[in-house]
Parts: sequence; C-alpha cells; structure tokens
Amino acid sequence: MLKNLSNQSKNFQQRLHSNIHIRKTRFNAVSVHPHYTDATLISHFLTALSITFPQGERFFVETVRNVREQIKDPQLQADIAGFIGQEAHHAQAHEQFNHAVQSTQYNLKKYDAAFEKEMLRLRTLTQRRQLAATVALEHFTALMAGYMLKYPEFMFKGLSSNMKQLWLWHAVEEIEHKHVAFDVYQSIFNNLAQRRRSMRTITIGFISSTMLMTADLLWQDRKTSLYQPKQLLKNIKALYGLGLMMVRLFPEYIAFYDEDFHPKQLDQQDLLEMGRQLLNPS
Ligand SMILES: [Fe+2]
Ligand SMILES: [Fe+2]
Repeated sequence: MLKNLSNQSKNFQQRLHSNIHIRKTRFNAVSVHPHYTDATLISHFLTALSITFPQGERFFVETVRNVREQIKDPQLQADIAGFIGQEAHHAQAHEQFNHAVQSTQYNLKKYDAAFEKEMLRLRTLTQRRQLAATVALEHFTALMAGYMLKYPEFMFKGLSSNMKQLWLWHAVEEIEHKHVAFDVYQSIFNNLAQRRRSMRTITIGFISSTMLMTADLLWQDRKTSLYQPKQLLKNIKALYGLGLMMVRLFPEYIAFYDEDFHPKQLDQQDLLEMGRQLLNPS
C-alpha cells in the first residue's frame, strides 16, 4: 500500500512538470453520422485513419513502456506518463467511433484481422525496431494534426461540434506529445540509420494502407460519394486538397531524415493555443 502511495505521489509530482495534459474528450459516439464532413471523401479519409488508431496507439504505448525503466530524466518520465494517458484515451475514443461507423452501412471490421496480423509481426521485432516504428508513425500523426489545425476550413468543414471534440482533441494532444517517443528513442538507442530505415518502411505502409482504406470506404459509399454529381464535385475538389496537403507537408516530412532532426524544431505553439481555445471556448 505504501509503495502504491509512493508511486501515486511520484506520478503526481511528475505530472506537475509536464505540459502534456490528459483530457477527457466530450465526444459522444452515439450520434455519429458516417458523412461528417462537407465532402464525403474527407470523412472517409479520416475514418480510414481512425481504423488504424485503436490497435496502433496501443502498440505505441507498449513500445514506450517496454523501455521506460531505462529513462532516468524525470522530465521525460513525466512526459511519458502524459503520452501514455493521452494515447490510451485516443485508442478508446476511436474504438467507440469506429464501432459507431461500423454500425451504419459500412464494413470496417474486415480490416481488423489484417491489422492484428501486422501488429503480431511488429511485436516480433526488437524493442529498438518497434520503438523506431512508433517514432516514425508519431511523426505522421503530428504532421496530420498540425495540418488539421492549420487548415481547419479544409479538414473540418461541416464537422459538428461533437465530431470536433474527437478530431480537434486528438490533434491538439498529438502535437502536445509529439516529442515523447522520439526523445525516448534517442535517449536509449539513438540509431540514425534505423530511424531513417523505419521511416522509409512506415511511409510506404502508412500511405498505401490509408489510400486503400479511403478508396474502399468511398466505394462502399459510392451511391452518395460517386453517383451524386454535387457530392462527386466536392470530392474531386477534396482529392485535389489531399494532394495539396501532401505537397505542403513534404518539407516537414523530409526533415525527419536530418541527423539533427527534433520534433520540436517546428514551432506549433500558436496552433496549439488556438486548438486548445477551440476545444474549451471561454
Ligand atoms: Fe493519439
Ligand atoms: Fe501520438
């Protein structure tokens, strides 16, 4: 009991020093409509991302937990606590969201087996390679989160306040903890070649799986997304917007390969403040 109390107090002290805040989302999965953005293509793109989150983010937590004991820096330990808390909540919220979308006319479950297989494969890798995969994927989530906050009129157009509580909340927290897995990796392994290799592999896997799932959801929804001229036109514009997003994000993506790269080198403090304000308007 004494040990528990001492651990609780240690955690409390650690959290006092972290800028990573674990929030409860006000998102309610009961009232989810599968077309939650103005252009249905964006809904399908975001849903495709969401499909990967429950299993993916639990894997991120595991890879950091695997090596956590080796971290001596109290600040980084405090940030790890924040990172774990945030990702655990994200996985849970997206599981509920995915379940809600699945219960409409979509089949999302068919991806579960493929993801489970991939997760099993990743777990057979060394702790260093597993963590390097997390670091690469966390760079992608931070890029996406930054883009959502920077261009809300593109990504969030038509989003209800309930859905903002999911996507905006997740985006804010991804930026808050974007450095954690990277700092853990650097502190313990600091292997540049592995970090670059992982990013190359993850890039192919992440982009191709997201594109395939988006295209599949679009096809499942073809009666609305493709056969209705007004919606088709919006989706063509949205497709151009997604292409533009990739072009705009390329410099931030490629910076990851620099020897002295650090996630915090891109200052997103203003975006973060704006996102926090939108989440909790005073
Ligand atoms: Fe997350
Ligand atoms: Fe994350």
